[in-house]
Amino acid sequence: MCGNADLPISTHTLTSTRSERMPFTPEKFIQGAVSSIKGTVGGERAIIAVSGGVDSSVAAALASRALGKSIYCVFVDTGLMRKDEGKLVKAMLSRAGVELHVVDASADFFIALKGVGDPERKRKIIGERFIRVFEAEAKKRKAAYLVQGTIAPDWIESGGGSRETIKSHHNVGGLPKKLGMKLCEPLRDLYKHEVRITARALGLPPEMSERQPFPGPGLAVRIVGEITPEKARIVREACAIVEEELERAADDGKIELPWQYFAALLPSKTVGVRGDERSYQYTVVVRAVRSLDGMTANFSHIPPDVLQKISTRITNEIREAGRVLYDITNKPPATVELE
Ligand code: XMP
Repeated sequence: MCGNADLPISTHTLTSTRSERMPFTPEKFIQGAVSSIKGTVGGERAIIAVSGGVDSSVAAALASRALGKSIYCVFVDTGLMRKDEGKLVKAMLSRAGVELHVVDASADFFIALKGVGDPERKRKIIGERFIRVFEAEAKKRKAAYLVQGTIAPDWIESGGGSRETIKSHHNVGGLPKKLGMKLCEPLRDLYKHEVRITARALGLPPEMSERQPFPGPGLAVRIVGEITPEKARIVREACAIVEEELERAADDGKIELPWQYFAALLPSKTVGVRGDERSYQYTVVVRAVRSLDGMTANFSHIPPDVLQKISTRITNEIREAGRVLYDITNKPPATVELE
């Protein structure tokens, strides 16, 4: 087994983790969360935003337990989701008894993001777009509440009060000031590993409970600078290749599956050669990290032959990609995502 189990995860944290403070009992948490959702939402209707990540899926499963038919689960296709994400998430949640409704809002997102390069601005626009879609859905369903899968690092990193803003997570700092709905956030106090423990206790399938994290703004935070449908396609294909190859390497016992692994796209093109001709194409960054809760992370030590396979596949299968780099930065000083 090749991996990096010998490397300690950076001990720098932005806050002490919950696990350092108290043991986590999922059954107790589930019981409390279900009764708190019932108490908060009361007899009203609610919609829930499901992104396909474990956080929103756990929030959906809890809300579904608490509210039964008066919860409506929405998956917004922003055009910035992973390959086949909508279909996959719908199938996974349906096995857990949760019905998901897919709304295609990709055209709206690309129009709103056109010409925008600043990461914080992008996050705010995405947060705002999401809310507009949810408001429209809530109006149709006469829902007063929006249930979100916000977890502790989302609001810690989004700053406010005496805290520094690291990045405005779309579901916190990216929310517009005027919100036409009341918020219900049952996972606000949890860290990622506690969400996974809860997912297992709720009986969610392992492909969901053990799924690597996927950020709410999706591929938008993996495209450095301006977003275009072309760049979204490139990074989506590259992410799928990284996932396939690292999962294969893990299945073959070559590596321990990283905590999170994906590709990102840099805005700069570089010169290369294709056949006998000069090329000028995009640069793809491969990122794979080990972490416990996303607050700190160490880059994964991936064997060169696995990286080589990823690089060859990306440059062969994606016409617009001419160069592949591997990111060897920890968090801090970097963050997991590139924006
Ligand atoms: P960073 O990039 O902040 O990521 O080191 C830590 C973890 O959080 C995910 N992430 C997000 N999740 N909304 C989310 O729901 C966001 O805006 C967001 N930004 C980052 C990231 O994928 C990693 O797992």
